[in-house]
Amino acid sequence: MRLASVDIGNDAVKAFLGGVGEENKLYIPNVVAKLESRSIVEMEKNPIDAIHVEVNSNTLKGGIQKVAVGKLASKQNVNEELTPDTDKSESDQAMILLLTTLALDAVKNFKPKDNKEEDDQVIKARYLLSTGLPMDETKRGLNKAFRKKIRDGLHKVKFLDTPVYQGKTVEISFENVLVNTEGFAAYIELSENYKDIVGKTVLINDIGGLSTDSAIITKDAQVDNEFSDGIKKGVAGALDNIIRKVYNKHRYTIKSRRDLVEIITSEDPEEKNTIYVAGTSTSIQDIVDEELSTLASEEYKLMKSIWRNVPGIRKAYNIGGGSAVLKTYLIDINKEDAKFPFEFPKIEDSIWMIARAYFKILTLYCQKKGIDVPKEALPKAEVAETAK
Ligand SMILES: Nc1ncnc2c1ncn2[C@@H]1O[C@H](COP(=O)(O)OP(=O)(O)OP(=O)(O)O)[C@@H](O)[C@H]1O
Ligand SMILES: [Mg+2]
Repeated sequence: MRLASVDIGNDAVKAFLGGVGEENKLYIPNVVAKLESRSIVEMEKNPIDAIHVEVNSNTLKGGIQKVAVGKLASKQNVNEELTPDTDKSESDQAMILLLTTLALDAVKNFKPKDNKEEDDQVIKARYLLSTGLPMDETKRGLNKAFRKKIRDGLHKVKFLDTPVYQGKTVEISFENVLVNTEGFAAYIELSENYKDIVGKTVLINDIGGLSTDSAIITKDAQVDNEFSDGIKKGVAGALDNIIRKVYNKHRYTIKSRRDLVEIITSEDPEEKNTIYVAGTSTSIQDIVDEELSTLASEEYKLMKSIWRNVPGIRKAYNIGGGSAVLKTYLIDINKEDAKFPFEFPKIEDSIWMIARAYFKILTLYCQKKGIDVPKEALPKAEVAETAK
């Protein structure tokens, strides 16, 4: 059995598999495309860049599906990113991403000889999984059905035309499944790095690709169910608008949201908000400012109304990849407006925070249940602690 924590983001899946080290991380853009067959290109060495699978799970509404996932999917002409109106707990795509993530881990870490059968192409993998849902879905009680569907489902992932793993099938089963709430999980992680958070009412504002989750955690570490909220809007739309406007104005195609984010968040003043059209540096700052300041004001309004409802909030922690994109705009608006106490954790931390927290919750669960946690699955500090 292996421990796994999976943050099924609308923009990307972030997972810790078997432990919390750098080598345990897996990041897969949340893009899926129907794909029957393809030919593996000689150059392809890394399976992660060319995931092509058949997912067979009785939890899928659309039945058995042959799909490209992640980078390979984004290269297909027709592909599906999640739309804001779908619930994670009910979407086939979220399930496909989750199972694919685990299958990628399983082919490397479970041996067919663990099976009774001789078939070395079939791998049986059992997981103890920690995952979660956004605030608005847990508020509606969807977590129970989500947990049951993952835990009791019959899941099989077969690698089709994927380099290295082609032909292997992984049968995934679950020892148990913990379904957390995204915002509350972030609180657990934040309370480690920001000691002063404990005992205070705080707002955790998670700006993602397609959604913004605002979790209020009260001073006795409970989720405020009445005023915590979420909107189905993140930075993806604004990024798409920028890409379109840059093309219209400069006839220059920024290939992906990710490439654009690099341009926007570059620390080098010569690169920041700059594209090179036929070698000539061209500023796109006007377009970027227009789009992102509009979105930042919307996000700011949301925070303001929360603060109006719960005036006792002492601090707002802005996390998620979207916070990194909107950081300077939010700070500027705030300076001229309510001057709320804001914190922006480091970008990497804020993207990985929830997956990391899910793993921590899992290790706590194991300790409580007396399940042995492999040493490499513990955070470094705790390993040092047990070694004492
Ligand atoms: N290193 C980075 N620096 C800045 N922005 C980033 C970085 N990585 C991702 N982003 C941007 O942040 C946005 C969302 O990131 P994040 O991973 O927090 O969303 P998500 O959790 O997948 O989505 P959701 O919370 O809506 O389910 C994306 O639009 C992405 O372009
Ligand atoms: Mg997220």
